[in-house]
Amino acid sequence: MTGWLGTGARAAVLALAGPGYESLARPLIFRLSAQQAHAGLLRVLRLADTVPGLARLLAATRALGASLEPVQSGGVLLESPYIVAAGLVKGDGFAGEDEALAAVARGRNIIPGWRSVPALAGPVEFGSFTRWPRLGNAGVVVWRDAPTRSTQNRVGLRNPGVRAAAAFLARHRDALPRQFGINIAVSPGVEAPEQQAQEVLESFQVFAASGVRPAWYTLNLSCPNTEDDPGSHQTAEQARIVCGAALDVLRAARGTRPVPLWVKLSPGLAREQYQALMAVFAELGVRAVIATNTLAHPAPDSDDYLAGVGGGRLHAAAVEAAAALAEARSAHGYPVDVIGCGGIMDAASCDAFARHGVRAFQYWSALVYRGPLVAALMQRERSELRR
Ligand SMILES: Cc1cc2nc3c(=O)[nH]c(=O)nc-3n(C[C@H](O)[C@H](O)[C@H](O)COP(=O)(O)O)c2cc1C
Repeated sequence: MTGWLGTGARAAVLALAGPGYESLARPLIFRLSAQQAHAGLLRVLRLADTVPGLARLLAATRALGASLEPVQSGGVLLESPYIVAAGLVKGDGFAGEDEALAAVARGRNIIPGWRSVPALAGPVEFGSFTRWPRLGNAGVVVWRDAPTRSTQNRVGLRNPGVRAAAAFLARHRDALPRQFGINIAVSPGVEAPEQQAQEVLESFQVFAASGVRPAWYTLNLSCPNTEDDPGSHQTAEQARIVCGAALDVLRAARGTRPVPLWVKLSPGLAREQYQALMAVFAELGVRAVIATNTLAHPAPDSDDYLAGVGGGRLHAAAVEAAAALAEARSAHGYPVDVIGCGGIMDAASCDAFARHGVRAFQYWSALVYRGPLVAALMQRERSELRR
């Protein structure tokens, strides 16, 4: 749509998306606890995926709100620099693989949002998926801290496991979005590096064999909220083993260019650790690093366990991590891009990462505080600032 009609339609969509969400929808949603809102959202997404024609309507709304803004990052020509981070469209938890596969065979939607979220929001990173299904943690697992626009969670990598996730996505191959990523997490609690590498290898093999072809894969080396020590997977030595296993599978794919591999790290690692990791990623051929996952803090209702903070209270630590990675990148000319994640909410938070050469951004908490069309809002805010 061009001319005044297009401009008018965009203004209307953005008014609905911005002030409309913040003054009407958000106060209603915030009457519920974060846990209730999260569970309700998953119910809505499960239903939305099945409503005939809805995905097309959502995609049209998105197209009205934002123009295409392709950006090259991490070996991918991304159709938009704003990507929904892993953890929203990740699927149901299961106690075992047979049960998860049986649910797929029965036609159950085990990954709520797989169709509706990308239609409305644009590129999405599906997952994290682990080699085996996980039920995640019980009880209250999500919180929000509205004054700082933060979230906190200890979902604990609840997911259907790679085999069922791949079978489900393969079943819907013709309706998958044009561009999406798949996030595979190292299995929490697996100590031996060889076993860890074996599980990563199998996870990538399962997806490769399914015929589902994402635009990128992310290997999530940072697994907070699982009572596993996230730092242990993020040494240069461990990263070399597990990334090597993933890359072996991706490079074995015949007849097509290998899907680029990204890696996701925690905030708060030592500067030297980020630098050492960057050297390994460059050497192996990892194309991007997502900085960062959530920051582990005591859960709001108990000091006995940790829960990952995202949003405003993560932002500074995530930018610091991105800066350390970007410094190593430019000092050594490493061909590894940095993707910003952590409190991406508006033009200023994007630009805090962009100052370090970051061109693509992932967000999760912004969906809670600014609504499902936050990418369109950020695009407009940033273009107004550039004028
Ligand atoms: C409820 C919830 C679940 C999440 N699950 C995952 C996950 O499974 N894998 C992952 O890599 N990141 C996961 N994350 C982390 C986000 O992808 C993101 O890195 C983090 O929230 C920081 O972004 P934000 O500041 O925009 O929220 C999750 C975040 C939330 C809030």
